[in-house]
Amino acid sequence: MSDRRSVSIAGAAQVLRPPRDGMVHLRGAELEAQTLDPGGVTVESGRITALQPSARADLVVDASGCAVIPGFVDCHTHLPFAGWREGEFEQKLRGVPYEEISRGGGGIRASARAFAQASDEEILAQARLIAAEMLAAGTTTFECKSGYGLSREGELRALRLAHELDAQVVQTTLSTALLAHSVPDGWTADGWMSEVESMMPEVLASGTVSALDIFVEAIAFGNEHLELMGQLASAAGLTLRCHVEQFTTMRSVPVAVAAGARSVDHLSTIHPDDIAPLAAVPCAAVLLPAAEFLGAEHRAPARALIEAGAIVVLASDGNPGTAPVFSVPVVLGLAARLYGMSTRELLGAATLNAAWTLDVQHDRGSIEVGKRADLLLLDGPAEMLAYRFARDPVAVAFVNGEPVYVRDSAAAARLSG
Ligand code: NIG
Ligand code: FE
Repeated sequence: MSDRRSVSIAGAAQVLRPPRDGMVHLRGAELEAQTLDPGGVTVESGRITALQPSARADLVVDASGCAVIPGFVDCHTHLPFAGWREGEFEQKLRGVPYEEISRGGGGIRASARAFAQASDEEILAQARLIAAEMLAAGTTTFECKSGYGLSREGELRALRLAHELDAQVVQTTLSTALLAHSVPDGWTADGWMSEVESMMPEVLASGTVSALDIFVEAIAFGNEHLELMGQLASAAGLTLRCHVEQFTTMRSVPVAVAAGARSVDHLSTIHPDDIAPLAAVPCAAVLLPAAEFLGAEHRAPARALIEAGAIVVLASDGNPGTAPVFSVPVVLGLAARLYGMSTRELLGAATLNAAWTLDVQHDRGSIEVGKRADLLLLDGPAEMLAYRFARDPVAVAFVNGEPVYVRDSAAAARLSG
């Protein structure tokens, strides 16, 4: 990467800004209060230094007609994994439920077998290709999860590969140890949780993990295991994340909140009584519309969550089973229509609120002086993003102030210096 010192983005039709500087997340009407006014941005040494263009810069960006927004933060993916499960999608299209596919040896355990059989380089090569697709779609920070190891060695390998991936992609990645994803063959859920507890020193020794995660579901783990995972997370000083209320209403949200969870993810079947208490605490509601759409799952009550004041987040859930989707613009397009979210709500949910979920809100997720210059130049107004559904709107992606993705010659023509 070159040592470019200053960038001036000039003449943008829209620059996405939070309602006030220093906000760590956006609840309720704060999402809609973000502004998309004309303007510019100056970047020096990878940081945003002014909310206007500068007269002299090493790189000048003609942003006329364009929107400038923060790079997307995809706070829920299942990278790295091996291969895909397109055959299962065919089954789902014929009406076979996910739970039945899973009980028949498919689902997570099928990906675990593929993971065990693939070489490190095969897994990393696939993940690098996906990361390149994600960059072209505007993702500049993303979460990785383990979870397809399904054994002590397998989970530790997944975490090591996630760390290796971080060094091989231009994005920043953060690692979550999804140590309770499916009950491995030959184990009971209780027995596996004891194994998880005993592997914590090794998980922590790597120094690369920032969160623990668990899949709470009739076919996976229970609320008592969520409580235990919360205890392990707080003992280790890690964030607690959890997959809850995806297929079956388990009333896991109050349990997760009591356990100090940073986020509750999915919520497609959240009990209505759990919405207001969730909205009252610092715990993100991470909604995953691609999984809901492709799996014909129930639909999370996004509007009720926003109106109650929850920290609503949108993410891909990119994984080989429920959501083989890694494009945040596609996710936002789905959320626009499935949830009835406005452009400002969509953007805030996939930038600052997603950054808060990963605890990187101080450094990224919004366009503010002092934050890292992970920025997107969209090739039109932000409202085009959901409207031109499933089209990638990113002309240029900047990571740390560097134009690491330039879509085509028209995008390149906007850069001079
Ligand atoms: O978030 N629900 C659990 N985990 C994933 C699915 C994983 C898979 O099917 O491979 C999810 O949807
Ligand atoms: Fe997931």
